[in-house]
Amino acid sequence: MNARCRVTRRSFLKTSMVATAALAVGRASAADKARPIRLGMIGVGSRGSSLLGNLLMFPEADVRAVCDLLPDRAQSAASKIEQQTGRRAEVYAGSDLIWKKLLERADLDAVIIATPWDWHGRMAIAAMRAGMYPGVEVPAAVTLRDCWDLVHTSEKTGIPCTMLENVCYFQRVLTLLRMVREGVFGDVLHCEAGYQHDCRSLMFDAAGKLTWRGQHSATMNGNLYPTHAVGPVAQWMNINRGDRFVSLVSMSTPARGMQLYAAEKFGPDHELARRDYTQGDLNTTLLKTASGLTVTLYYNILSPRPYDLIQRMQGTKGIYLGTNNSISLEQAGKSSDQWEPFEPYQQKYAHPLWQALAADAAKSSGHEGAEYLMFHDFLKAVRNKAAAPQTVTDAATWSAIVPLSMESVARHGKLIAFPDFSGGQWKKAPPLPIYGA
Ligand SMILES: NC(=O)c1ccc[n+]([C@@H]2O[C@H](COP(=O)([O-])OP(=O)(O)OC[C@H]3O[C@@H](n4cnc5c(N)ncnc54)[C@H](O)[C@@H]3O)[C@@H](O)[C@H]2O)c1
Repeated sequence: MNARCRVTRRSFLKTSMVATAALAVGRASAADKARPIRLGMIGVGSRGSSLLGNLLMFPEADVRAVCDLLPDRAQSAASKIEQQTGRRAEVYAGSDLIWKKLLERADLDAVIIATPWDWHGRMAIAAMRAGMYPGVEVPAAVTLRDCWDLVHTSEKTGIPCTMLENVCYFQRVLTLLRMVREGVFGDVLHCEAGYQHDCRSLMFDAAGKLTWRGQHSATMNGNLYPTHAVGPVAQWMNINRGDRFVSLVSMSTPARGMQLYAAEKFGPDHELARRDYTQGDLNTTLLKTASGLTVTLYYNILSPRPYDLIQRMQGTKGIYLGTNNSISLEQAGKSSDQWEPFEPYQQKYAHPLWQALAADAAKSSGHEGAEYLMFHDFLKAVRNKAAAPQTVTDAATWSAIVPLSMESVARHGKLIAFPDFSGGQWKKAPPLPIYGA
């Protein structure tokens, strides 16, 4: 096996579960920055191009190879790299298995994967087998088998795998993590979060065909995109680090949005307006943890509505609600039945990573700089041959909600047992540290 990224199983478990690399603060030293991290990219469509732009902000990111099914996209990514760095990346394009050629290269430390969901698991698994550290878009897998294979392949090869769950790096999400650790909310009891985003326009292409996202809405039914919602919650609740998900139930409403939107866009007689779709417009999933905490997740992308991740956290001492970015805490001499603006708390409990990197993050694109922080941690992990804060166990756990919710929906809301991807390690793993060096 290629030894470029390999860590021993002992150090893998240590870094993966104990997450010593977690959210460590501070910039890389000048010497570190001078050492290039050699990267490939698979999938340079909408998200991949945006990730590439953020990646190129890091002087040590040496993107040597780009791959896309569509040659013009891969060429355009290579041109962007050349314009910004003066170096031309090698292009792999034109077939849906050409990415395997990219993984045969002997000179890459890591690979960023931003393809449609079905490809994530197998590409990340193949990358680890090839000795490359995968940074894979969300969800990392959509089948239980791929979730397990990600974990087992990482253990076997000693190569960490990071799911690029950017919402975990949103400023308020990290501030809340610090507040939870400092006991501001008391004991966290319940969280509610959702991916609620009107994505109907992404389901159909201009030629009147279903896109890959549309295909999923036509053939699956469950919470198909859970990680933006569950990732932050899992970190606030110490999932895989002292607690774990043990079961879920999931139910979906009828499927109406796809047909209605297609009728509006293409006319009521168009085949896309007349065919059946499986994905209910709104899916609700309820999870329980080993210590009895509960989480409600919503998946609502097929209705007219504003974007809202909800991010409601209820503890024994108070509540935060992301929908109106407000907080209410029980404090001496203060009533807890009023909402207060979160902004002063954002200042008071600013997360060290944001404090250290805010200026650079502000120059990046997307989600107020969260992607910059995410790549800061990812590149640091690759450089140190260590697990990033989001371990392969987290990737499998958060992604497994896709197949588990589908199973529960198909079985009329049956309670489904949640696998333990940590192999029992969750009992001894300490919480994700938030204060780094
Ligand atoms: N984290 C976030 O905030 C965020 C935001 C948007 C999208 N995403 C994720 O990013 C991924 C890509 O989404 P997108 O919006 O860029 O989709 P997209 O359709 O714009 O891009 C996907 C690209 O992958 C290419 N591709 C497909 N199959 C391939 C294969 N076998 N080999 C190589 N290339 C292949 C396509 O040609 C396309 O260019 C998805 O997993 C999505 O969930 C994440």
